[in-house]
Amino acid sequence: MKKFTLLYILALTACLQTAFAQSASLAEPDIAVFYPKDFDSIHTLPSLAVLKELPKRDSLPAAWKVKPQFIQMDGKNSVHFDLNPETDLYGTGEVIGDLRRNGSDVTLWNTDNYEYAKFEGKQLYQAHPWVLGVRADGSAFGILADNSWRQEIRLENGVDIISEGPSFRVIVIEKETPQEVMVALGELTGTMAMPPIWALGYQQSRYSYFPDTNVQELADEFRARKIPADVIWMDIDYMDGFRVFTFDPEGFPDPKGLNDYLHARDFKSVFMIDPGVKQDSLYSVYQQGSAGNHWVLDAAGNEYNGEVWPGQVAFPDYTRPETQKWWASLYKDFMNLGIDGVWNDMNEPAVFDGPGGSMPDNNIHRGGGDLPRDVHLRYHNVYGLLMVRSSREGIMAVNPEKRPFVLSRANYIGGQRYAATWTGDNSATWDNLKMSIPMSINLSLSGQPFNGPDIGGFTKSPSADLFGNWIALGAYYPFSRNHTSNETEDQEPWAFGEEIENVSRTAINRRYRLMPYLYTLFHEAATTGMPIMRPTFFADIQDENLREEQQSFLLGENLLVIPRWAEGLKMPEGDWQDIAFEETDDTYQAIVKLRDGAIVPMGPVIQSTEDYSTKKLTLLINPDKSGNAFGSLYDDAGEGFGYQDGDYAILDFSAFKTAENTLKVSVKQTEGTRKTAREFRIGLVKDNQIIYSDWSSQNELTLTF
Ligand code: GLC
Repeated sequence: MKKFTLLYILALTACLQTAFAQSASLAEPDIAVFYPKDFDSIHTLPSLAVLKELPKRDSLPAAWKVKPQFIQMDGKNSVHFDLNPETDLYGTGEVIGDLRRNGSDVTLWNTDNYEYAKFEGKQLYQAHPWVLGVRADGSAFGILADNSWRQEIRLENGVDIISEGPSFRVIVIEKETPQEVMVALGELTGTMAMPPIWALGYQQSRYSYFPDTNVQELADEFRARKIPADVIWMDIDYMDGFRVFTFDPEGFPDPKGLNDYLHARDFKSVFMIDPGVKQDSLYSVYQQGSAGNHWVLDAAGNEYNGEVWPGQVAFPDYTRPETQKWWASLYKDFMNLGIDGVWNDMNEPAVFDGPGGSMPDNNIHRGGGDLPRDVHLRYHNVYGLLMVRSSREGIMAVNPEKRPFVLSRANYIGGQRYAATWTGDNSATWDNLKMSIPMSINLSLSGQPFNGPDIGGFTKSPSADLFGNWIALGAYYPFSRNHTSNETEDQEPWAFGEEIENVSRTAINRRYRLMPYLYTLFHEAATTGMPIMRPTFFADIQDENLREEQQSFLLGENLLVIPRWAEGLKMPEGDWQDIAFEETDDTYQAIVKLRDGAIVPMGPVIQSTEDYSTKKLTLLINPDKSGNAFGSLYDDAGEGFGYQDGDYAILDFSAFKTAENTLKVSVKQTEGTRKTAREFRIGLVKDNQIIYSDWSSQNELTLTF
């Protein structure tokens, strides 16, 4: 008995020590930073997630709710949070499975995970040591484990984050709503930069369009069939033997000519660049990399080599400032060929013959600048982030007047600052289509608004029906790209016969018509950190019924997107009205509902964003119970940085019921110096139809219906 009591007391003391031997302070009124007693700043700082200084402004108030206990779990430095079991958990980055993460676990170790098949899909391409908690009353918090080492997040009993690295600090955001937590996360980790508007268009890819004449035909086919599209993607086969920054002399002898051809038809081109540089003493990039000592080293200090597409490659050590600069400089000649965007892939990094599909944990990154020398285990999860940071800088340097566009497969929390993302090698299955929604939402709730899956699925060939359903939904992903593997059938919108071609055209037309709204949402994401694609429960954070809804999703605050296949949907309260777009056959189309009290600006069908204009806008309006509605538009040149000097416009729309059947709308420019003569019409969304007013160039409009 005595022995047990003693053990109990000893255990309790140990527990109390681990739990409370820490320092905690407020960096902001709603942001607390917790340091364990043995905090290891050398091996965890500087943070690549957090942009801001985290000053110790105030001591932690006694009433602070979400407090970590720094403990050892499985012999590893860990942090535990006790939570009320009613708390709903989200985020944790790029994950398969349900939207609500309670009960799940995920390993943060960027992994090339073909078909999400390895590790039960619990370890994918990106790492976000981040959990968003939403309480029953709608109040919310966010937990950020500020370290990049391999770690695991377990949400089985509160929150456990178990790291393989040294002792790390934890940041906790406490807010009244999950939306406010997202904004705070944006302030902490930075937001996506405003992309060029063409990146919001529909994009066509495959592994690989080859040769260049095939790409030209593809561009012509889109235009001939009047299916809107903005971008064609060049996958690895354009390269000469998969050597990055080279072109296959037979298949792509004249990349500049190809890009001119595409530009003349209002297409943009994105070309792939992987990190692995072929070990080939006759290849200039390898020669330069070796001369500059740019490679990641093995534990013995020698150049590390592993196998990727070109055979044995060396990997740039992006922790070195010299290497960052060198890598950035490689984009000069490349971008000068008229390339518009860059696709950085395999940057987990994927190594076919390496342990666990990557490089050994004890490889050496030499660092420099503010990043110290350390082992791969520390830098693995930020390898992709550091790569895209460097790529982005290189692209900016070549075309300083243009907004860079980089797509990355691997990334880390905060990496939204440098690149958009897609969810890697999914498959053409119904399961993957359905799962793409919670997956994109959780990625969005982890700070990355610009994301989407391969539409149609990467591996396997979809049936016409599956593809039809996928494109009908895919038109509403923030990043909307059809991509497929080299082993699959054709997957262009017309590859499945006339019916599905029409389905695709209609869906893509709708994306382009909603572009004024979508672009406004991108601006919101870029300035505030709010996601573009949001969980339905954001419509009413107090309605606990909505917390698991993962078939529908919100685009911004005002549109609810519901796939045709949705069953047993949980709808937020209110009078959400279907937008009856003009095309008639809606068999496959996602249902798009407009919130009551909202105004959404809509444009005409265009074939690419080259034709985008806000000169003629339909204001889709669903007045609330009192007959009022509000909305806004963000407008700028769609490219370049003039908007930073005021060359933009924010228009506010307000609608009021002035008599029983009369709606008056006023338009006001509230920000920016950009002046555009516009015409508007009201489109009252009501009872499954849209009632239009006449077009008017006035800022006051009236509709009597
Ligand atoms: C990887 C990418 C895929 C690409 C392929 C060839 O599997 O995830 O999108 O097509 O490599 O580059």
